[in-house]
Amino acid sequence: MDVIGEHVALQRRGKNFLGLCPFHNEKTPSFNVNPELGIYKCFGCGKSGNVISFLMEHNGQNFVESVRFLANKAGITIPTDDITPKEQEQQNKTDLAYKALQSALEYYSKQLQTKEGSSVRTYFLNRDFSADAMQTFGLGYAPDNWSATMMYLIKQGYTQETLVDAGLVIEKDDGKVYDRFRGRAMFAVHDSMGRVVGFGARILTDVKDQPKYINSPQSLVYDKSKILYGLFQAKQHIRQEKSSIMVEGYADVITLHENGFRNAVASSGTSLTNEQLDVLSRYSTTMYLVYDGDAAGINAAMRGVELALNKGFEVNIVTLPNKEDPDSFVRRNGAETFRTFLRNAPNFIDYLSEQYKQQGMLATPKGQAEAVRTLVKLISLVQDALQRDIFLRSVAQRFSLQEQLLYDELNKIIPSKSLVPVPQQYQQKKTWIKNGNKRELLPPAEKLTIQQSAITPEEKILLKIALVSPHGFMMMEEGFAVSTDTFVTTEAKTIYQAVQHAHHHGVEVAGHVMMNEALDQACKNIIGELLFADEQLSSNWSNFDVELPQLDIKKAISDSLLSLSLIKVIKQITEIQNKLKENDDHDTILAYMELVKRKNAIDMQLRGITIDEF
Ligand code: GTP
Ligand code: MN
Repeated sequence: MDVIGEHVALQRRGKNFLGLCPFHNEKTPSFNVNPELGIYKCFGCGKSGNVISFLMEHNGQNFVESVRFLANKAGITIPTDDITPKEQEQQNKTDLAYKALQSALEYYSKQLQTKEGSSVRTYFLNRDFSADAMQTFGLGYAPDNWSATMMYLIKQGYTQETLVDAGLVIEKDDGKVYDRFRGRAMFAVHDSMGRVVGFGARILTDVKDQPKYINSPQSLVYDKSKILYGLFQAKQHIRQEKSSIMVEGYADVITLHENGFRNAVASSGTSLTNEQLDVLSRYSTTMYLVYDGDAAGINAAMRGVELALNKGFEVNIVTLPNKEDPDSFVRRNGAETFRTFLRNAPNFIDYLSEQYKQQGMLATPKGQAEAVRTLVKLISLVQDALQRDIFLRSVAQRFSLQEQLLYDELNKIIPSKSLVPVPQQYQQKKTWIKNGNKRELLPPAEKLTIQQSAITPEEKILLKIALVSPHGFMMMEEGFAVSTDTFVTTEAKTIYQAVQHAHHHGVEVAGHVMMNEALDQACKNIIGELLFADEQLSSNWSNFDVELPQLDIKKAISDSLLSLSLIKVIKQITEIQNKLKENDDHDTILAYMELVKRKNAIDMQLRGITIDEF
């Protein structure tokens, strides 16, 4: 709308805007723009499209240029202009891996039609997966052969290296190669834009010592912490339904879609991550978490609740009877019963209170106190103040406690409000940053006091890498130009300086830094915590059973740097807001706006918003 408005004088006509068509000569306006849908149509010459096609048509830009143009406008940088040869090579490798995976999908799906594949087709049909679903979800069959897939793809022109990059082929140390997926039912895994990034491969008949599923490895194109299975097929429905249904398995997603629950997605394989929630939150922040009722399911649900609340989700929990998963439940009881379960799904307070009751925790005052504290801790994660209030009251009522008592407890947890009224988004980020230790699952009461480490979680990650990984340190220094200025707290600056010193003197870094006499006790405590706490610093590092340390470290570094720059910008914004109260001259306002723009850009980058959003 803004973009088109720059080129065409538009006037409002109801929901639409009307103007003289820029594509043909006319005296009476017939060029319509619908800002809601971001599309235009001229009833004079018939041209129609979206912002990108408008720019392509009107400015003669190609697709990539148009996208970059828009991204620029939105304050997002797409760094590809001055790309180094090395980055170019990486880019080519990535592109080829995507292509190979797409070709593999086509191959596996063709195999379903062969004689050998017919048993798998029957298997899918027996699970009530329609031909339509097989198409939509990219189901297929990998022949029971060590090299059939590889042979086919090499004939298509792919190199062995590409097939290894794509995770389709395994290369042993001695150089021998073979197909990763053999004799299995294939489930394609797509990213949110619909590109194939990997596969899940199910065994057809249970064989001892054979895993039920073999999954594609983490790769150039498959970041397991970010991908939600089924999101591509579900995203439009999640928007429409204004909610998502989170399940565990591939089959669950497909059966739910087949039964009209097209907003179902799965974390499949990994436990739910913050990154997955970030992606999901672009479509809706109401979620139905569906887990089976066994202990593992309940644990997973609790962890999911905590992460999701922290990301601003409204979470409802659906517990299925023991031994049922959504797939088996819907097949046995029908879609309507499942719908009733969704409708009656308790929020986290009701759900947890019920759990506690069943565990006998509410029988003693001590247990009750513990339960209430845990609930308040969870409520503190809720971003919306009004909602927090409502939840708090419901806990007070349920446990017959004075509300004030709970508010006091809550205020102990929530960092005291800044005096300057800050934009809501900033407040959210602040909580998000402060609650760095998000991975913890429902701590017992005595752990409820929030750990007060002087440095930020991002700084912890960077310092830990610098302390334990020479390679990571090099990457930080040379690849990311990290310096003491990068850090925000004095402690982190001091520690980083000590690390640099040790590196430059070629001594054993961790030990040297530990012994550094120049560091005060606070710094030493932090170093001790970094080196000896066995908690994983980044959720990224714990979710993969595959080894990709270098890529991971790089990502951990760049994510942390991005978060740190956000903290800095927010600090600057607060400062300038104060200044604005005294002196609202033009330059200060401009500087303020510049900072807000920058903050939004970092925000977007942190939320992983990519060009498919345009
Ligand atoms: P069906 O038995 O076909 O209904 O599969 P399911 O999706 O119900 O599987 P299940 O509930 O056992 O597991 C949930 C998800 O965990 C699966 O969809 C897979 O993503 C993953 N998973 C299951 N088994 C394995 C395994 O043996 N290895 C790995 N790596 N992942 C698995
Ligand atoms: Mn199942």
